[in-house]
Amino acid sequence: MTPPARRDGTPDREKDDTFYISYARPAKKQNVTPHPLEDNWWDAPEEGVRLQKVLAKAGVASRRHAEIMISQGRVEVNDTIVTTQGTRVNPSVDIIRVDGVRINVNEEHEYFAFNKPRGVQSTMKDEMDRTSVGSYVAEKTASGQRLFHVGRLDADTEGLLLLTNDGELANRLMHPRYNIKKTYLATVLGEAKPTLIKQLREGIELDDGPAKADYVQIVDTHNGQSIIRVELHEGRKHIVRRMLKAAGYPVQRLVRTKVHTVQLGEMKPGSLRALNSAELTSLYKAVEM
Ligand code: URA
Repeated sequence: MTPPARRDGTPDREKDDTFYISYARPAKKQNVTPHPLEDNWWDAPEEGVRLQKVLAKAGVASRRHAEIMISQGRVEVNDTIVTTQGTRVNPSVDIIRVDGVRINVNEEHEYFAFNKPRGVQSTMKDEMDRTSVGSYVAEKTASGQRLFHVGRLDADTEGLLLLTNDGELANRLMHPRYNIKKTYLATVLGEAKPTLIKQLREGIELDDGPAKADYVQIVDTHNGQSIIRVELHEGRKHIVRRMLKAAGYPVQRLVRTKVHTVQLGEMKPGSLRALNSAELTSLYKAVEM
């Protein structure tokens, strides 16, 4: 039966009491206001946080100044410059840059520098219950943050280990493609001769192929021992110890003092500190994030 039609051809339901099925598809999102504590609240249309608020919260500028930066075309969201005030973003997924520099706006992400003491395993949980990095950051992991260690240090090596729950950054920092430089201070047996510098810079033969340092400095030689600074971007196991041993200077103590621009500084063994925004920005940049 053809229902009575209006002038435009659509059925006139007021003049017809037949029950019609609507073929209109139900809206994917019904008009329910999501609760901010629900996991999917960001999925809802019109949700998100105003860009200027996100920038202010990340410490970039006051809200007012952030608005000015937006108008000046200095702010990018996911590679697109945004100049519209009030644009809403999702800080958990959107990538925000100011003047081309990535800003950490994801409050769920945590980034730490840890001074690993000697004798501590570079794992978050040791199968044999030995003291591990996880033992030091247990409180953090217990409170729901899963931190990863970025690379490893031998149990006998001390010093800087980066920890984060940002898997993408961690993976990239460990990837050989980005050539992330690490600096070590090695105390070795023997008074180092200046030829050591050339030897390590030009490459030294190891069981699994040659290894080169990017920079070598003899910091001190004293009483049959030397302190050597070695900078390299290699990630092979025991690389510094093996290089120095191959050159005739067995390592007695090894400390990692720097990863890219992040410095160990005066951190006490076993202590943890949050990375600052300059450090984080430079890490993002180094791995093209
Ligand atoms: N090289 C080493 O020999 N050991 C480390 O832990 C890191 C680099």
